[in-house]
Formats: sequence, structure tokens, C-alpha cells
Amino acid sequence: MYPCSCSIQQWDSDEPIPRSELLAGVAGKHGLLCLLSDRIDKEVLDAAGSNLKVISTLSVGVDHLALEEIKKRGIRVGYTPDILTDATAELSVALLLATCRRLPEAVEEVKNGGWTTWKPLWMCGYGLSGSTVGIIGLGRIGQAVARRLKPFGVKKFLYTGSHPKPESAVEFQADFVPLAKLAEESDFVVVTCSLTPDTKGMCNKDFFSQMKKTSVFINTSRGAVVNQEDLYQALVSGQIVAAGLDVTTPEPLPTDNPFLSLKNCVILPHIGSATYATRSAMSVLSANNLLAGLKGESMPSEFQL
Ligand code: NDP
Ligand code: DGY
Repeated sequence: MYPCSCSIQQWDSDEPIPRSELLAGVAGKHGLLCLLSDRIDKEVLDAAGSNLKVISTLSVGVDHLALEEIKKRGIRVGYTPDILTDATAELSVALLLATCRRLPEAVEEVKNGGWTTWKPLWMCGYGLSGSTVGIIGLGRIGQAVARRLKPFGVKKFLYTGSHPKPESAVEFQADFVPLAKLAEESDFVVVTCSLTPDTKGMCNKDFFSQMKKTSVFINTSRGAVVNQEDLYQALVSGQIVAAGLDVTTPEPLPTDNPFLSLKNCVILPHIGSATYATRSAMSVLSANNLLAGLKGESMPSEFQL
């Protein structure tokens, strides 16, 4: 049904394709390989027209895709689960440690002369040993984070999700709890869920007000899971001790954003999966998903709509 060879029109830059170029370029195409920074909505699907059979995204997150509309049109979706789990979990742990042990602040003190001598309480933070860690979304990445944190001496793991997952939780003896209990009891909260209508804005004023004043909040999922204004207030008022964010709203965060002046917030530019090997594997998988979709074959990783 589909040809064995295909012609490719490529946006040949690391910078995102301008919207106008995307709308013009997609017209009449059978397949589309996109990034998480490309919003594939009704406008793009209309511009593509009825030829479009497959969308392959270079990401495991699919929140930038208008899934209902895509499903309605019978378009298949390829994505990149599993191969980025280790890199993203590793980065989540790095961000957690950098945040709770105040690494960026400490490095800055060395450079700006704030390091005058060894002082008993100077630059103290909070450690993982004996702690309770709450994971919001015990999926592939959530489990990989828990697996890496366990050897640090974590005493208890809690998790939330749409339903208990005893087969995933057993390795960590993690307890499935309501979100409010997770907020109340965790010393570290790590957000690793997908962004859906249910999780959008889930970490809000109520949530932060339930957290302990000595707790640390980490988000490596999507910025929109957090109500950022509420997080800002929680950090400024001392409602929580610190936050580490690999994802924000918007991305990039403007350089004059008030978050960037907070000493108790570590912000990274969405680099969870950014190792050479992982990005290379993601590229190969997304190309293979696209080709399989074009040929009408089963994809190596198809997102079930
Ligand atoms: P999975 O699908 O394996 O895990 C997603 C988890 O989200 C599931 O465990 C699911 O739990 C949970 N979830 C869904 N709804 C809720 C809810 N209402 N409350 C709590 N949890 C919920 O995906 P991955 O682990 O592979 O990836 C997760 C996300 O991480 C991606 O969607 C992406 O947004 C983000 N990501 C970020 C990266 C970065 O660079 N920072 C890199 C890679 C991914 P349940 O099954 O119970 O619904
Ligand atoms: C994803 O895959 O969803 C990440 O955000 C980038 O790797």
C-alpha cells in the first residue's frame, strides 16, 4: 500500500521549526517526525490533510499531541519509551541531590567569597538517609528513580497514581497513598507522571501547604503538572524548603522570571534524557517507528490511542 522508499523533507536545524514552516511543510505528507516542542494540534492536522497516517515523536511524553483528534482521524503515533528511562532517572537523582544539598548555591559561595571558613551550620541541607520519598507516578521513570534512591538509605517509599501497582511497588515496598497523604508524609516528593488533563496543575497551593516545611520538591515530568505561581509562593514563604525543576512553564523560562532569583530553587533546561547515547537511540527508534507506520507494519514502540 505504501512505497518502500520515501522522500524526506527535513527542517535541518537544532532550533524548533517555525510554526508557519511546519504548517506549509506538512501539507500532503504521509508521515511526520516531530519534537516535544512542536504542538501537533487540529491546525497542523488540518494542514497535513487526509494523507497523514503516522506521527512519530522524539519523546516519551505525548502531551504536545492532540490525541483525541489524532485518534479520530485514524492516525497512528510512535514514541520513545524505555530507552530514555535510565538517563532521565539519573538526571532526576542528580537534580534531587543538587537541590537538597544546595550544590549550585555552594559552588556560587566558593566563587563569590562567601566561603570564609568551615562553619557548623553553614550550607547545611537535607539528606536521603532515613527519609520518606513520595513518587508521583510510579511508571517506568518513577520506578527507575526509586531503584536508584533506595541504596541512599531511604526508609519508606510512597506513591500515587490512578490505581495501585502492587507488581511495580513490591521491589521498593512502596505504599499506594492518596496525594494528600503523600504530601504530608514525604521528605522528598519526586514528580515523574505523564501530563494529562488529570495531572495538569495537580501540585498546587493545597498540595504545597500539606507538605512539611523541611521537604524538597522535584519535578522531571512536565512543567504544567505544577501550578508554578503556587510553587513560587511555597518557596518564598518557607512552606517547603527547596525545589528542583527540570521542566517549567514556559520553556525556556525567561531570564527575568522570578524563579531564577530564588536560592532554594534549582532549575535545569529540560535535560532529563540528554545523554549522547540516549538521544541517539531515541532518534533511531523514532525513525523506525515512522518507517514502520508508513509501511503499515507494527511499530517498535506504538503509543496506544
Ligand atoms: P509511564 O507511562 O511509564 O509513567 C507515567 C506515570 O504517570 C504512570 O505511572 C501513571 O500512573 C502516572 N500517572 C498518570 N496519571 C496520574 C495521576 N493522576 N496521578 C499520579 N500519577 C499518574 O511514563 P514514563 O515513566 O516513561 O514517563 C513519564 C513522563 O516523564 C513522560 O510522560 C514525560 O512527560 C516525562 N519525561 C521527562 C523527561 C525530561 O527530560 N525531563 C524525559 C522523559 C520523560 P498510573 O498508571 O497509575 O496512571
Ligand atoms: C520526553 O521524552 O518526553 C522528554 O521530555 C524528553 O526526552
